[in-house]
Amino acid sequence: MTRHGKARICVIEGDGIGHEVVPVAVEAMRAVAPGLEFVPAEAGFECFRRRGAAIPEETWAAIEGADGILFGAISAPSEEVPGYEPVILTLRQRLRLYANLRPTVSPPLPGLRQGVDLIIARENTEGLYVRTEWGDGEFAVALRVITREASERIARTAFELARRRKRKVTVVHKANVLKKTCGLFRAVALEVARDYPDVEVEEMLVDAMAMWLAKAPERFDVVLTPNLFGDILSDEASVWGGGLGMAPSLNMGEGPPLAEPVHGSAPDIAGKGIANPVAALLSAAMLLEIGLGRGEEGRKLREAVWAVLGAGYHTPDLPGAEGKAVTTAEFGELVCAYLRGEPWG
Ligand code: NAD
Ligand code: IPM
Ligand code: MN
Repeated sequence: MTRHGKARICVIEGDGIGHEVVPVAVEAMRAVAPGLEFVPAEAGFECFRRRGAAIPEETWAAIEGADGILFGAISAPSEEVPGYEPVILTLRQRLRLYANLRPTVSPPLPGLRQGVDLIIARENTEGLYVRTEWGDGEFAVALRVITREASERIARTAFELARRRKRKVTVVHKANVLKKTCGLFRAVALEVARDYPDVEVEEMLVDAMAMWLAKAPERFDVVLTPNLFGDILSDEASVWGGGLGMAPSLNMGEGPPLAEPVHGSAPDIAGKGIANPVAALLSAAMLLEIGLGRGEEGRKLREAVWAVLGAGYHTPDLPGAEGKAVTTAEFGELVCAYLRGEPWG
C-alpha cells in the first residue's frame, strides 16, 4: 500500500501485443476500481536488447513496493541468447509465486461449447523449469526437480480451490514412466487429498488427460499438475474458452500476485491493433478478485467483458458477425463505457 492507502499495481507490458492488451486492462481497472495507483515498469526481450537488462533495477524497485503486478507477455526466443532468461520465469521464481491458476470457462456466446468450467493449478517454480541443462552437441541432459515442499503447497492450493468449486481434483502426472519425479508429485497429492475427504480425487496420466481435455472438458473441475504439463494443457484448455486471446491466469505465492494472460507476445499479429484484450482483462479481474480481495470489482469487470462480447463485439480471432469486429482499443473503450454506465454499443 502507498502512504495514501491506495493499492499499488506495477504494470509491465513486456513485448509484442503486451503493449496493446495491457493498456486496455489498465483503463478498465481504472474504470472499475478508482482507488488504484499504477506504476509502469519495463521488462522483457525488447528491454534486454535496448538496455542489456531484461529486468532493470528500477523495475525490481517498482515490484518491491507493489501490492500486485499486471503483466502482458514477453518474447522468449528458441535460440540461446547469452545473458537473457525469460522474464516471466525469473519473476515467478524470484517472487516465489508457486501457484499458477489458469481457468477456462465456456463463454456465454453462440457457437461455442457450453458447460466447461475448469481451472488448472500449475506448479510454477520447479520441474523442468529449473532450467539446468547441459550438452555438447551430441548428448544433452535436462534436470527435472520435484520437491515435497513445492508439490505439497500446490496440492493444498488445488484442494482448497476445489472446496470452493465443484469439489473435484484431477491429479495429472506421468508416474508410469517418471517414477521418482512424477511419482513424488503424485504421492504428495494423494497424501494431501486425505485431508480433504469432502473433495473427490482422481488421477490421470498426462497423455490420457490431453485426450479427455479435447473430448470431454466438462468432466474437470480443478486440474493439479506439474509445471510443464500445466503449460501445455493450459493452451489446450484455452480452446474451450474461445482461444488463447481469452485465457487469463494469476500467479500466486509469497510475493505480490501477478496477473498475466496465458498467451505470449504473438509476433504474428503484434502492432496491428487486433490482439484480443479479453485474456488481459480477465487476468486483471482475477488480480482484483483473488489477488487483492476486491471481489466485487473483479466480478464487475468480468461482467462488463461478457456484456460486450454478448452484444456481439469481438476482435477478429473470434467468430461472429463481420460488422461487429473491433480493434483491441475499441473493445477496451466498450468495456470502459459499460463500466462507467455510459451509453455503449
Ligand atoms: P503466442 O501465445 O504468442 O501465440 C500463439 C498464437 O495465438 C498466435 O497465432 C497468436 O497470434 C495467437 N494469439 C495469442 N494471443 C492472442 C491474442 N491476445 N489475440 C489474438 N490472437 C492471439 O505463442 P507463440 O507464438 O508460441 O510465442 C510467441 C512468443 O511469446 C515466444 O517468444 C514465446 O516464448 C513467448 N511466450 C510468452 C509467454 C508469456 O510471456 N507468458 C507465453 C507464451 C509464449
Ligand atoms: C506461459 C509461457 C511461459 C512458460 C514461457 C514464455 C516461458 O509459455 O506462461 O505459459 O513456459 O511458462
Ligand atoms: Mn505457455
